[in-house]
Amino acid sequence: MELVPLRMEFAAQILDGGPHDAEVRKLTGSHATFELADCEAYIERTLNDPNRYTRAITEDGKFLGEVVLTINEFNRSAGLRIFLKDGFGKGYGMIALKHALDHAFNVRNLHRVDLEVYEFNERAIHVYKKLGFREEGRLRDALLWEGEFYDAIVMSVLSTDNI
Ligand SMILES: CC(C)(COP(=O)(O)OP(=O)(O)OC[C@H]1O[C@@H](n2cnc3c(N)ncnc32)[C@H](O)[C@@H]1OP(=O)(O)O)[C@@H](O)C(=O)NCCC(=O)NCCS
Repeated sequence: MELVPLRMEFAAQILDGGPHDAEVRKLTGSHATFELADCEAYIERTLNDPNRYTRAITEDGKFLGEVVLTINEFNRSAGLRIFLKDGFGKGYGMIALKHALDHAFNVRNLHRVDLEVYEFNERAIHVYKKLGFREEGRLRDALLWEGEFYDAIVMSVLSTDNI
């Protein structure tokens, strides 16, 4: 497994949701569908945005997912998101998240990293807690998926937390 900068050639692989597409869409609350041009535009935007830190999670050169920090330098904070489209449970998520937190706290000198996770995503919640994220509150009924509402849990970790 390697963490590498996004590359334009990943666009087609980002677009192809893979064998777990339906599951990952629900876990990430992704309603929208995209075209190849959207993925290319996304990569272009990301590469040109100094407030975005993105690493593609790859295996044998193939795009498996990404971890993204959206940085607010004024507040020394960042929003974090991650997804793998395949290869769950092999430790890749933990490695990618540790790398992103190291970048946030030790390279960019940020103070706070936060994220939202849907209440049913027990695997992600487990991993976030293991990394020191704490629940701050809930966005009630934030996701409507196939006729059911679900809460989003807001979690954060601070540079000063004892982790
Ligand atoms: C969430 C995600 C990033 C985690 O990465 P990963 O590589 O699958 O996770 P890891 O292999 O590093 O660690 C998995 C851990 O979760 C645990 N786990 C697995 N399924 C679980 C479940 N249903 N409930 C609780 N814990 C679970 C494993 O035992 C392991 O814990 P351990 O390290 O203490 O043994 C990844 O699964 C993913 O991208 N999923 C799809 C999209 C998604 O959910 N993104 C997050 C949106 S907020």
